[in-house]
Amino acid sequence: MRKISFKLGLLFFVFVLGIETVLFSSLYVTLVHSRIDEEFTQLLARGNNHRDVLEKSYDPSTLEHVTMMESEAETDVVITNEKGKILYFSDNILPFAKKIIKNTNKNIPYDGVIVQKNWQKESHISTVSPIRMDGKIIGYVYMFKNTDSIQNMIYKLKHHFIMVGILSVCLTIITIALLSRFITIPLIRMKMATEKLSKGDFSVRLQVKGEDELAELGKAIQTLARDLEYLKKERNEFLASISHELRTPLTYVKGYADIARRPNIEEEERNRYLSIIYEEAKHMQKLVKDLFELAKMDQHSFQIHKEPANLCSFFKKLYDKMHPAFQVKKMSLVYQCDENITVHIDQKRFEQVMINLLDNALKYSDQGTTVSIDVKAEKKKMMMIVSDEGGGIPEEDLPYIFERFYRVDKSRSRNRGGTGLGLAIAKEIVEAHGGSIYAVSDYGKGTNIIITLPEG
Ligand SMILES: Nc1ncnc2c1ncn2[C@@H]1O[C@H](COP(=O)(O)OP(=O)(O)OP(=O)(O)O)[C@@H](O)[C@H]1O
Ligand SMILES: [Mg+2]
Repeated sequence: MRKISFKLGLLFFVFVLGIETVLFSSLYVTLVHSRIDEEFTQLLARGNNHRDVLEKSYDPSTLEHVTMMESEAETDVVITNEKGKILYFSDNILPFAKKIIKNTNKNIPYDGVIVQKNWQKESHISTVSPIRMDGKIIGYVYMFKNTDSIQNMIYKLKHHFIMVGILSVCLTIITIALLSRFITIPLIRMKMATEKLSKGDFSVRLQVKGEDELAELGKAIQTLARDLEYLKKERNEFLASISHELRTPLTYVKGYADIARRPNIEEEERNRYLSIIYEEAKHMQKLVKDLFELAKMDQHSFQIHKEPANLCSFFKKLYDKMHPAFQVKKMSLVYQCDENITVHIDQKRFEQVMINLLDNALKYSDQGTTVSIDVKAEKKKMMMIVSDEGGGIPEEDLPYIFERFYRVDKSRSRNRGGTGLGLAIAKEIVEAHGGSIYAVSDYGKGTNIIITLPEG
């Protein structure tokens, strides 16, 4: 459970530590350099200062005065003549000074140079400034500074850096620990939620705050839970409906078969029972066929193969197929179409849609009425309207008629052979075409079923 937060935390930590190390070390190096540079500049400036004083009055009293000043200070001075012979010096610096003076190249610029800069290893750092009079060098001012103080300063700086470094690593660890927990807690909650879901517990409620990706994921899981809950409920209802639908015809079949097989029964009566059994079996066959059709659609193994089709020849074929049934019921079927209209549809499937709609119009209208198919082609879509002059559908039932097994008047529809699946199948097919289907009805006057199809 904690693995993800640990992994994430470790990853963050390595990155942040890397960045911190680079930043701290570059800061440290720059700071040390600038401090050391400052030391050298100061020492050189001090030497140049003494030199300036000496150039003004180069006499024993000034020389003594300069050396005396340095004996008080942290720095030391040695003054030589132009040949490098030591004239004056402050404090006990002679052995080191002699070495430096011996090694000094005599071509020294007027602003002076650093002659010993190894502050890490040597006991002193040192600079030299030439004393010039009337354009001639008459001596040199050597300045010395003990490196102990520099090393001490660097040591303190290092110490500070280490302390700050440790502190920032600690703070980093704390921040990252809190942050990774903060990020991973919702993830862990979601993981637990999906585990619950997979066990069939759909009562998952996640607290989702904000608008970020994690919140979106949480919302998606919640929607998934709700959908699954709905699907489960729907499946249960569906199964209940199926068993209910099958129970009635099966009761008839069983009952009438039982009577029909009695020996002392009239031939005519037996035939009547047998035909009832036949009708019920036919009803069940239709039901099973429709259910199978819907199951195929649900499994997504159902595919639409759109092809361009001439609308008029499509309607003509449909008319030829359905027309006799209308004639039998003394109803008329009319259609109008424009020769030029081409539609992109899966003809076999779409024929099924139209047959279902015409079958409804036929079933739920009385004789003498007319059923018509109209087409309206608009800019980007096409409308097909099947209208009848039948009994219509009450307004409160309109939203549900496309649901499986929904029938406005259960017993009446059933008597007419309806299973309540026709419109559900039609809706699936139309939607697979990218279109939509809805009904408009004037109760008592007639019904219009409207299909809209996108172009292409
Ligand atoms: N044109 C119509 N006029 C009046 N009522 C209709 C019309 N079309 C559908 N209905 C009502 O909507 C219900 C659902 O229609 P649907 O086609 O899905 O089922 P069915 O016709 O009862 O059965 P099936 O089509 O499976 O044989 C019908 O039972 C009927 O009550
Ligand atoms: Mg129907």
